[in-house]
Amino acid sequence: MQSFPAFLPLEGRSIAIIGAGPAADAKARLFEGSPATVLRFAETPDAGELEIAALIFIAEADPAKRETALAAARRTRAWVNVVDAAALCDFITPAIVDRGELVIGVSTSGAAPTLARDIRAKIETLVPAAYAKLADLARRMRDRVLNAKPSLADRRAAWESILRGQAGERALTGDLDGAAALAEETLRGARSARGVVHLVGAGPGDPELLTLKALRILQDADIIFHDKLVDARVLDLARRDAERVFVGKSRGDHSVPQREIEWRLIAAARAGKRVVRLKGGDPFIFGRGGEEMEALRAAGVEAHVVPGVTSALGVAAEAQIPLTHRDHAQSVTFVTGHAKDGASAMDWSAFAGSAQTLVVYMGVDTASQTAAALIAAGRSPDTPVAVIENGTTERVKNVRGALRDLPRLIGDAGIVGPALLFIGEVAAAPSALTQAAEDAA
Ligand SMILES: C[S@@+](CC[C@H](N)C(=O)[O-])C[C@H]1O[C@@H](n2cnc3c(N)ncnc32)[C@H](O)[C@@H]1O
Repeated sequence: MQSFPAFLPLEGRSIAIIGAGPAADAKARLFEGSPATVLRFAETPDAGELEIAALIFIAEADPAKRETALAAARRTRAWVNVVDAAALCDFITPAIVDRGELVIGVSTSGAAPTLARDIRAKIETLVPAAYAKLADLARRMRDRVLNAKPSLADRRAAWESILRGQAGERALTGDLDGAAALAEETLRGARSARGVVHLVGAGPGDPELLTLKALRILQDADIIFHDKLVDARVLDLARRDAERVFVGKSRGDHSVPQREIEWRLIAAARAGKRVVRLKGGDPFIFGRGGEEMEALRAAGVEAHVVPGVTSALGVAAEAQIPLTHRDHAQSVTFVTGHAKDGASAMDWSAFAGSAQTLVVYMGVDTASQTAAALIAAGRSPDTPVAVIENGTTERVKNVRGALRDLPRLIGDAGIVGPALLFIGEVAAAPSALTQAAEDAA
């Protein structure tokens, strides 16, 4: 170890920054939101003004001015950091992950600051901002836990139950009062481990489209219920020892009935597990997440929802289909081609006007009825369409054409789904879209 990490409490401390310009501003930004008093000096001040500083940063590009500042700083007892001059520094400024009470500093002992910043970026994704709330809860409960659990072993066990259990979960939502109440119950032994269910949106396939929250919850899960739409690469991000349960379900093939899925989620939560119900796209867009939520609530199980990138958004982005466009689409509508009562029950006339985009989920089998109904309702047979299967995965298929040819396009390409139908002017190939906009101008 070439340098020793230590953390300096900032309460009641002053930090001096000598110099003007971006480097000095960057140092000042490090202390934003901290209790430290930041003293900014464009030029080296009188010796007395630096005396109260605990740390002095010198961000002075001019060598003569830097010498003057360094001489003044050395007359104090402060630790000194000279920007871009490692040999003159008493301490190294690490790359910092700032989560309030929780602070992570990364240093390469000055050898490779860029590497330190890259590592920090990785840690930023692993330690979500909400973790600051866990530290807030721990501070709030510290004396209480100390008094209630005098033995070190009991105390450690209590902290594990609080921070990894429901109190911690609650703190992460920002409800510190609720979290503290749950922590109290845990301390009194009134609360045995009770599980929780998260309905998590897995996005359309590409694991990089997961939200940071989804990733954190996935990595915390004891058991994960997933179905066909969830990409294997997303599941790979879960903890290795987490149990994975396939509750595969595809339209018309309800291998695990919806009620049974709900019942299994409830049973796992009642067994004290942290349960993730991982759903393709977003849980509340054609995903029956609403029904699962209601069932969990009715059973008195704590449940949360983490949104996901719905396939229409992820797939359109990949295919560069702007769902709205100043010149071509003033609205976008998501519909299902497989409504409970059949596609024909849909009032297609509402979607027949031009300058609107229609995205049909689960619409492959009913594509010919959809095209016929839209044309009958007045939408031009020349309206551009795109059909995209397995978007954001390496199995993607993307075909484009006109509304009148929709069933043939699907048949010729052998598309069976999961696929989305994009109907509207924006579904034209990007070059055609640009040309149309230029013609209109
Ligand atoms: C039961 S719905 C679930 C939708 C999901 N909750 C969402 O927000 O995307 C399944 C339909 O989503 C669409 N879908 C999901 N993932 C897709 C993908 N990667 N590419 C194309 N369509 C997809 C297809 O229309 C599929 O039939």
